[in-house]
This record gives sequence, structure tokens and C-alpha cells, in this order.
Amino acid sequence: MLAMPRSKIAGIGMYVPSNIVTNNDLLKYMETSDEWIQERTGIKERRYAHRTEETTTTMGVEAAKIAIERAGITPPDIDFIIFATLCPDYYFPGCGVLLQRAMKMKEIGALDVRNQCSGFVYALSVGDQFIKSGMYKNILVVGAEKHSFGLDFTTRGRNISVIFGDGAGAVVLQPTEENNRGILSTHLHSDGDSAEILAMYNPGTHANHWMPEKYADFDEAEIGQMFFSHKMIDKEQIFPNMDGQAVFKKAVIKFPEVILEALSANGLQTTDIKVLIPHQANLRISQFVQHKLKLTDDQVYNNIQKFGNTTAASIPIALCEAWEMGKIKEGDLVCLAAFGSGFTWASALLRW
Ligand SMILES: CC(C)(COP(=O)(O)OP(=O)(O)OC[C@H]1O[C@@H](n2cnc3c(N)ncnc32)[C@H](O)[C@@H]1OP(=O)(O)O)[C@@H](O)C(=O)NCCC(=O)NCCS
Repeated sequence: MLAMPRSKIAGIGMYVPSNIVTNNDLLKYMETSDEWIQERTGIKERRYAHRTEETTTTMGVEAAKIAIERAGITPPDIDFIIFATLCPDYYFPGCGVLLQRAMKMKEIGALDVRNQCSGFVYALSVGDQFIKSGMYKNILVVGAEKHSFGLDFTTRGRNISVIFGDGAGAVVLQPTEENNRGILSTHLHSDGDSAEILAMYNPGTHANHWMPEKYADFDEAEIGQMFFSHKMIDKEQIFPNMDGQAVFKKAVIKFPEVILEALSANGLQTTDIKVLIPHQANLRISQFVQHKLKLTDDQVYNNIQKFGNTTAASIPIALCEAWEMGKIKEGDLVCLAAFGSGFTWASALLRW
């Protein structure tokens, strides 16, 4: 029997918009302070995409171009696209096909992943299975977000809007026969009991079905006015909602759990990790995880200070930066771990 190949990251790229938005810049829109934001989240600044010239897909394309070039291939060589985002250019179709068109790729499959902050690790896991099964040889996995278009920039939405930023990261997955190299394992989890704790309800078809209290007026709405209505806009029911403390409490349990699960599945210890790339949710969460797992400063890479939380893009952006800075070398053990809306959480362990 032929041994099953592993997948390896053959190329990685990132793209962030040039527009830097500092904490003090946000004072124009809401009551907040640089001190509050840095103390609670570690964030100093984030990037916002150009209003009209950049979209989630175009940022994904820029990151993908670099990843593809670094993999030593060209866009027509890609045989499958997986695109993770919570801010798609259109409600439908997803960004995968828009990227396929923009990069003039062949009529290959394009899959969109909707797993928010865990989106990239979920997407990587799906790609890994396709490589291991032998179905595809060059898979493009992208995580990209244009949060700046959809946040509540008033004081009411400040607990969420100060956290998020825009950007994109991408990797090319290829099979490798090299012993002990590539993605060793991936671990995916969810707990839908907390779906509403970090969520954007409208537009949607929920009709208050899952809400303890009426969120919008679906009973009275005219047919044709149910999915999205002037009333929803007037009542400001069109922004994301988050119970930050509930997210924090769950995240600091699930991050270490899913990292230890990955290590244990491979007979490895925390001391074997060269670099942990945690999803950049909040610097305080990453520091808590580091402390709990007794990891050194060198073992954890954070860049939320510069980019904020870029959801599905945060792990590939941080991984790309860490690699470009020489913090990850061939043979190093790298752990990716994510937690976010859903709740969903996931990890991936790879030998670079
Ligand atoms: C969002 C988060 C930073 C808020 O910090 P917190 O310590 O929990 O703060 P609270 O929500 O309890 O709010 C404390 C006070 O700060 C205020 N506040 C909230 N956002 C603020 C902001 N941007 N600037 C200034 N004050 C703010 C609140 O109104 C509240 O004021 P009050 O005490 O007068 O009512 C924190 O809960 C968090 O990081 N949670 C995890 C979120 C996360 O990681 N999300 C992404 C998941 S992938």
C-alpha cells in the first residue's frame, strides 16, 4: 500500500491595507481612549481597507499572489480554492469564485468557509484532507476580512469596533512524502449553545427563532421586508453583537485545551513547540494561554498590536510575519490555534 502523503505549506503570503488607524483616530467616532484599548486588548493600531478600491476578495488576491509565487507555481496550477471570511464581498456567491475570476484560474472548485475566527484553521484542515486523499496537488487557502465596512462606529459599538481590523493571508498546500514534515494533525470543535454571544443576526432568516427576546419586527414586516428592512437600519439592528467577557472566559479554556489535544495526538509536549501562533483575538487572551501552558515569550508570536483582530486572516498574517522574520525554520514545530464566534475552536500542528 502507498503511504498517504502529508500536506505542507509550500508558500505563504499576506496583505494589509496601507491605511493605519490608531486608537486615537477612533476618538473621532466614539468615546474611547488609547489607554482603555491598549490595556484591555493590547491593540495600538489596525489597518482599514480603501473604501472602494479594496474588498475582502482583492486583499485575498494580493496575499494569494505572494503565496503562489513563493510556492514556485502560477495561478493556473492551483487546483482548488478554499476561502475563509465572515465579511464576504456579496451575501452570495462567496469570495472563492470572485478570487478564481480575479486570478484567471481554471474552472476549479472554490469552497467558502464560514467559521469566523477559526475559519483559517478549519479551511486548512479541509485542504489537508483533500491533499492526503490525493484529490488535489496545489490548494490555495485564503483568510481575508474587510471588517471596517460593517462595524458600529458609535460609542454603542465600541466594545467590538475597536478590536477588529482588515487584512488577508494565504497559503499554498502541496503534498510531501518527506518524513515528519508538513501538517501532522488538525482538531476541530464547536459549541452552538453560545452562537448568539458573538454574532451578527441581520440580515438573516432567523425570524427571532433563537432569541430569548424579539430582536426585530418580523411579525409585522411586509413580505419582501423581512430579510432586510428600513426598520432594522433605523433601530440599528444591523451590527455585530458580542458579550466580550463571556467570549474571554470560554476562550481561555478552549485555547489551551485544543493546543494540548494536538500535542497529545502526536506524542509531543509544550516544550517541543517552536512557535505557537494563536488567533489574534486579544493580547490578554494570548498572554493568558502562554502563562497557562508555561510557554516562553519566544514560543508565542503576537502581532495584534499592529493589526487588531483580523478574524480568519489573523493566523496566516501572523504565521507569514513570523516566517518572514526568521522565527520559523525548516523542521520547526508550529502550532496554530483559534477560537471564535460559534463558538468554534481548532488547532493544527505542523512541522515546517
Ligand atoms: C471586549 C473586551 C476588551 C471588553 O473588556 P471588558 O473588561 O470585558 O469590558 P466590559 O465589556 O466589561 O466593559 C467595561 C466598561 O468599559 C466600557 N467600554 C467598552 N468598550 C470600550 C471602549 N472601546 N472604550 C472605552 N470604554 C469601553 C464599557 O462600556 C464598560 O463601561 P461601564 O463599566 O461604565 O459599563 C473584553 O471583554 C474582551 O477582549 N473579550 C474577548 C473579546 C474577543 O476576543 N473577541 C474576539 C473573539 S475572536
